[in-house]
Amino acid sequence: MHDVIVIGGGVIGLSIARQLAGSKSVLLLDRGATGQATSHAAAGMLSPLSEADNQGPFFQLCRASLALYDQFIDELQQESGLNVAYSKEGLLSLASSEASAATLRQRYEWQRQAGFGVELLLPNQVKKMEPLVTVPIIDALFMPAERSVAPRRLLNAIRESCFARGVEIRTGVHVDAISPNTIHFAHTTMQAASIIIASGVWSGEFEGLKPRIPISPRKGQILSLAMPAGAFRRMIRWGHSYFVPRSTGELIVGATNEDVGFESAVTPAGLGRLLTDALAISSDVGSYPILETWTGLRPATPDELPILGSTAVPGVYYATGHYRNGVLLAPITASIVTDLVEGRDPSIDIRPYSPSRFS
Ligand code: GLY
Repeated sequence: MHDVIVIGGGVIGLSIARQLAGSKSVLLLDRGATGQATSHAAAGMLSPLSEADNQGPFFQLCRASLALYDQFIDELQQESGLNVAYSKEGLLSLASSEASAATLRQRYEWQRQAGFGVELLLPNQVKKMEPLVTVPIIDALFMPAERSVAPRRLLNAIRESCFARGVEIRTGVHVDAISPNTIHFAHTTMQAASIIIASGVWSGEFEGLKPRIPISPRKGQILSLAMPAGAFRRMIRWGHSYFVPRSTGELIVGATNEDVGFESAVTPAGLGRLLTDALAISSDVGSYPILETWTGLRPATPDELPILGSTAVPGVYYATGHYRNGVLLAPITASIVTDLVEGRDPSIDIRPYSPSRFS
């Protein structure tokens, strides 16, 4: 008997288990191996400003999570002894068409008025910052506070920290059904005061769990190149593609966003688009070796917001549906779930993420 059972060993489930382990006995179950599904595929961008068009609640949630990141990383690196390639070099958003330049300028205006340290750059200023960029630029925004992390390293560090804090992890456990304070699998039941559903794209499939939630996968194809030391320092966004350079020498090029169910193949069309965009951003990358290509399935909801809060089944909570932002939102999700489990009001309003909003 544990105080808490967390179902799902991605970045969200592991972060929740780790934080709750301070005050509770925690068992984490994963249908496969921990950290090998969506989180393993993530690019690791911690960049709330670069996609935000207003200061709505979701932007505030992302900002609140980013504000927790320095401490999260410090603790994880100390507890695990691992380096998670945390970068604070910022992000350049580049526009090559009048339409995307207009979007950038609108973003610049509201972010500057709201007091965020965002800079509108001329093409020659971009060239000074990132000399290998070759795409024609009309306007560019620099967001110096945006960050990144290497998700696979991060997952290893959170897992190590979970072990150090006494979390029990069992892999290859496929939970079938949920009832009050109880999980059911392979003709077995287990009980806990609190059960957290953090199963990403698989969160909608437990028998007995109410309300039902509409989670569907969005495939992302992504690849990594071996870049010469220091070739790129900052993240770069251009159109629907991005570069995430790592201190470890990889240049991540992402990502497609495809509504094709659980199909998860790397395809010529997907890779073709990424490579075409990568070569447009910088012709220099044409000679970089391709290290790896892969896909991930983002857990998307109809309004693209996460699902956080109590279910209609006593003792059971959802912490899922983080879509494009699981890595960024892991610390604030862990904090929210810890508050709920310990009977406190979360520090941030979670009503926009209510599980019942789709009922
Ligand atoms: N957060 C980046 C992506 O989903 O591709």
